[in-house]
Amino acid sequence: MKNLLIFGLMATMFYACSQSSSANESTASTTSKPAVDGEKVYKTYCVTCHGLYGDMGASGAFNLQTSVLPVEERINVITNGRKVMTPFKELLSEEKIKAVAEYTLTLKK
Ligand code: HEC
Repeated sequence: MKNLLIFGLMATMFYACSQSSSANESTASTTSKPAVDGEKVYKTYCVTCHGLYGDMGASGAFNLQTSVLPVEERINVITNGRKVMTPFKELLSEEKIKAVAEYTLTLKK
């Protein structure tokens, strides 16, 4: 009976520890899923030219549904701009740019 009590106590402690450590991990890790919502960024900054579905093409904006540009290049275009498209490096953090670049990949048909 005494052993069971100790076991129970240890289990509770372990549970508490693992919970707090996993909470830390979820805020620190940006590799698997970015903490920023790319969709939200897109809807705020990009829809004016690219449209909600990426195919509006206002001001000569490229169709993001048919774009084959890899994600690193998208990050580059979003960061530094290209022709009519304005650079976003002053407006968005690197993390947000990465998140929105990844979001644009989901628009692909
Ligand atoms: C002022 C209008 C405008 C806004 C706002 C805008 N874009 Fe663009 N975007 C363009 C234009 C125009 C091009 C084509 C550039 C060219 O002619 O080389 C383009 C090109 C791109 C490309 C390259 C596509 C390809 O296949 O080469 C990506 C990716 C892109 N935009 C993503 C975004 C994202 C993400 C946002 C929001 C953070 C955004 N754009 C906001 C106008 C805009």
